[in-house]
Parts: sequence; structure tokens; C-alpha cells
Amino acid sequence: MSETPSKKLVLVVACALVDADNRVLLAQRPEGKSLAGLWEFPGGKVEPGETPELALVRELKEELGIDTKTACLAPLTFASHTYDSFHLLMPLYVCRRYWGTPQPLEAQALKWVKPKQLRDYPMPPADEPLISHLVDLL
Ligand code: C5P
Repeated sequence: MSETPSKKLVLVVACALVDADNRVLLAQRPEGKSLAGLWEFPGGKVEPGETPELALVRELKEELGIDTKTACLAPLTFASHTYDSFHLLMPLYVCRRYWGTPQPLEAQALKWVKPKQLRDYPMPPADEPLISHLVDLL
């Protein structure tokens, strides 16, 4: 009996960056990337040898030019979603303390959004279930 090979597991970290007005930062995936035009929580793939928290610090620096500290990060929940060619596991961190002003360093549009308006922004299917957790928290 042969077993169906399981899909590759991809670990991506995502961050709900929250400002002093309790708004959350969304980034729009730029043209040329998969799922272009959809809005997501900033973040990216965890690289070999990295902890999720260090990956998130690196991604926030690369994508937005902000600094944060691993100690400021706490995973709120996980997304788990099967795409056609891989399975995505994605912890969502909440970060209220960061240094610098987020800038769109990777040509992505950025938008600060009130928690109750998060559902107005089309998101990748993995991200959508995260919203209710965030709305409850904020
Ligand atoms: O951002 P990046 O393209 O490296 O992410 C890899 C894949 O993970 C994307 O193609 C997308 O399918 C998925 N992803 C997602 N939600 C995110 C970030 C990535 O579903 N917030």
C-alpha cells in the first residue's frame, strides 16, 4: 500500500503591528508575488536555523524598516492552511512596541486599519481566520 506524500510544510511568521490608536498595519502583496493585490499581516518565511521570533524581527526590518525586540512578541494564534503545493503554518504575533515608522521598503502599499474594518480588505485564505482572534483581543 502506498501513502500519498504529504505536502511540503512552509513556516511563515506574521505580525499584527498595533499603533497607539489601536489600528493594525496591513500590507498589500505587490505585483509579481503570488496572491498579488491581497492584504496581509507583514512577515515572511522562517529561514533554516532561525527561530520564528528572530525571523519576524528580520522581516519587519527588511519590509518596513522598523526595529522590535523578540521580548515584545507574543504569538496570539496560528494559521494552518493547505495551498495547492504546500501546507502553510503561520503564527500570528502581536507587536505594540517598535522603533521607527513603518515604510513600504518592498513596494507594498501599507494601510493602518481599525480592527472592525479588517474584514473589508481581501486577504489570503490563510490569513482570514486570524481576524476574529485579533478583533477579540483588540
Ligand atoms: O510572502 P511569501 O511569498 O514568502 O509567502 C509564501 C507563501 O505563503 C505565499 O505564496 C502565500 O501563499 C503564503 N502566505 C499567506 N499569508 C501570508 C504570507 C504568506 O498565505 N500573510
